[in-house]
Amino acid sequence: MAATIIDGTATAAEVKDRVAATLKDAGSPTVTLATVLVGEDPPSQRYIRGKAKASEAVSITSRHTDLPATSSQAEVEDVVAALAADPTVHGILVQLPLPDGLDSRPVINLIPPVKDVDGLTDASLGRLVQGVPGHVGATPRGVMHLLARYDVPIAGRRAVVIGRSLLVGLPVSLLLARKGVDATVTMAHSRTPDLVEVCAQSDIVVAAAGSARMITKAHVKPGAAVIDVGVSRTADGIVGDVAFDEVVDVAGWLTPMPGGTGPMTIACLLENTLDAARMAGVLGA
Ligand code: GUN
Repeated sequence: MAATIIDGTATAAEVKDRVAATLKDAGSPTVTLATVLVGEDPPSQRYIRGKAKASEAVSITSRHTDLPATSSQAEVEDVVAALAADPTVHGILVQLPLPDGLDSRPVINLIPPVKDVDGLTDASLGRLVQGVPGHVGATPRGVMHLLARYDVPIAGRRAVVIGRSLLVGLPVSLLLARKGVDATVTMAHSRTPDLVEVCAQSDIVVAAAGSARMITKAHVKPGAAVIDVGVSRTADGIVGDVAFDEVVDVAGWLTPMPGGTGPMTIACLLENTLDAARMAGVLGA
């Protein structure tokens, strides 16, 4: 039987509607998401435009700073430090990757934890490891939301996460293994031997390696949930980590690409910005 298709676009619309309604109910306070882009990478420019458009649609103000690729480490840090100190800014997102020669970690760590809507600072990641409340990155939050929305059983199940990035793989692994979520998680990566066998024993596969169509039907246990977070630009256009056309006949649930995890990342960024405004006391008690 063909998999249930996990509709990220529809689920993202629900999340965005909730964000918009919450802001309206709170009396439409000004909530501001600041984004910073260093350089002129076209995909990053597209992401930033998408984030700004989605923010405006739910009445979140977006404030964008473009910096040239030739910016020094100090110039980038000065911009982020000013946003960190600005009480009218509630969330800050520094688009990654930064151009070669710039070190992202000191830049990210200038973001106060309450404004860290990407969940990328040492403080936010430390909270995630400890299982205490804090910002969780938008993509990991979106993956967990989709699994919950489609009632995918997680507790007691085996999950494999392919990729160990700070933005996606590592946080998703931690969230799936968290007390109360209770998956048994394998963190797989480009050096994992026997990836086919590891995946084929898993009830949940989260593919976040950025390797075009690497997950074939041989990797998928019948009935498993397969979540595609990969984005690769190929001669055939933008493709995910999952060979959708063959996996759809084996999986129990499957995200399409596009229309799966991508829209959820944007919607959950808005949710994180709303949380940041709440932490700043902007939404009232
Ligand atoms: N580059 C690609 N995805 C992301 C993201 O979610 N956040 C940031 N900051 N940079 C990215």
